[in-house]
Amino acid sequence: MKEYLEKLPKDLQEILHLIGKLAAEMDMPAYLVGGFVRDLILGVDNFDLDIVIEGDGIAFAEKLGEKFNAKITRHRRFGTATLALAHKLKIDGSPLLTIDLESIRKIDIATARKEIYPHPASLPEVTPGCLEDDAFRRDFTINAMAISISGKNYGKLVDIFNGKADLAHKKIRVLHDLSFVDDPTRILRAIRFEQRFNFRIEPHTLKLLQKSCREKALNSVEPQRLRDELVLVLKEYDPVRQVNRVRKLSGFTFMHPRLTLSDKQLELLKGISREISWFERQYAHRRQLESWLVYLIGMLDVLKLAQVRDFCRRFAFPSGVKKRILSFKDLSPRIIKNLCGKNIKPSQIFQALEPLSYEVLIALKAKYRNICLQKNIQVFFKEFNGLRPHTKGEDLRKLGIEPGPHYKKIFDSLLKARLNGKVKTKEEEIALITKLTKKGS
Ligand code: CTP
Repeated sequence: MKEYLEKLPKDLQEILHLIGKLAAEMDMPAYLVGGFVRDLILGVDNFDLDIVIEGDGIAFAEKLGEKFNAKITRHRRFGTATLALAHKLKIDGSPLLTIDLESIRKIDIATARKEIYPHPASLPEVTPGCLEDDAFRRDFTINAMAISISGKNYGKLVDIFNGKADLAHKKIRVLHDLSFVDDPTRILRAIRFEQRFNFRIEPHTLKLLQKSCREKALNSVEPQRLRDELVLVLKEYDPVRQVNRVRKLSGFTFMHPRLTLSDKQLELLKGISREISWFERQYAHRRQLESWLVYLIGMLDVLKLAQVRDFCRRFAFPSGVKKRILSFKDLSPRIIKNLCGKNIKPSQIFQALEPLSYEVLIALKAKYRNICLQKNIQVFFKEFNGLRPHTKGEDLRKLGIEPGPHYKKIFDSLLKARLNGKVKTKEEEIALITKLTKKGS
C-alpha cells in the first residue's frame, strides 16, 4: 500500500508521517480508515482524513492538536475528536517546519472501538477495542479497510473482510447479517455508494436490505439522522439516479407517509437537474446554489402545505432551509398565473421574484414549463435580480429631502420606473424625484 500513499499530495504525506511519528512516540498504533482508504485505492480524491488509534484517541488528538496548533472538538461519548487545521500548518517544536495545506483541512481521530447496539436503530454503546473490533463495527467491506501509518508497518493494508477484492469486483457487501438491523441508515448508505461508484449491492446484502425495508426499519431511526442521510443522498453527483434507486428499494414513506415518488415526480426532478445545470452555466458566479435543497423542494411537491410544515418540524430543518421549502409551497396561484401572462410588467416580475431565493426560483422554473414564465424568470436573472436605484439616501439629503419613511416610497418609485424603462440614468432619476416632490407625492 506504500505506493498508494506515495501518490498522495506532498503536504498530506508529510502530515501522515508526522501523525505516524507521534503515534510511535506515544506507543499508540495509528491507521488510516474508512472512506479515505476506499477512495485512495479507487484513485478518487478524498479530503477527509479519518484516523483510528489503538489506545486513547482523544489524548492522541490533544497532543497532535498542540503540535499542529489546531482547533480541537472532542466527542467523549464516542472517544473521537476532530482537528480543524489552518491553511499554513506551523509544526510546534520544529520552528522551521511549516506545511502549506492544499489538500486537507480536517482530521477525524477516533479510539479503536467495539460497538454494541442495545436496540435496533439506536445509537451504539461504545467500549475501547482493537483495530479488528473497529473494522467489525463498520458498514461495508469496502469501508472497513485500514492502512497502518505508524512504526515499521507504515503503508501496510489491514483488510480483514476482503474489502479490496470487493472494490475490484464493484460490490457493496455488509460484514454481518444484522448490519441493517443495527443501523438502518446503512440502507441509504448502501444505495448511495452503489449509485455513486456504479457498483452493485451483492445478492445476499440486497436480500438483507430488502428484508429491512419490508420491516420498515428506517421508520425507527431518529428523524435527524434520517434527515442527514437524505441530504447526503441529494448531495451526490447524480441525485436523480440516487432517488430513483431509493424509490425502488425502500420508497420514501420513512420521511412522510404520503411522500411517494411517481414517474411524474421523477420527471420533475430530472427537470430540476436540467435547470440547475442552466443556472450553473450562467450564474454560478453570483452564489453557490444549494442544489440538494432544490431536489428536496421537488420531492415535497406531492405534499400539501400542512404536511410540508409537519415534515420540516419533524426533521428539524434549520430555519433558512424551512423558509425556502415553505415559500415554494406557499406561492400563490395568482403569482404563477401572472408570471405565465404575456403582458406582465418588469416591475411586477421583480416584485414577484425578488423575494424568492435562487433555490425556489429554480424549482419554479423546473415545475412550470409555460413559455412566458420561462422567459420572465430568465429575464429576471439576467436583468432585474439585485437591481437598485442609482440614487442613494445621501443624494436625497442633498436635494433637501428630510430623511423619513417616505425615502422607501421614493426608492420604490424609482426602482419601478427604472424596471419599466421610464428612467435609465441617475440624472433621469433625480429629474423624476424633483417631479414627484413638486407634485407632493
Ligand atoms: N460508518 C459506518 N456506518 C455508518 C456510518 C459510517 O460503518 N452508519 C463508517 C464507515 O466505515 C465509513 C466511516 O465510518 O467509511 C466514515 O463515515 P462517513 O464519513 O460517513 O463515510 P465515508 O465512507 O467517508 O463516505 P463519504 O465518501 O460519503 O464521505
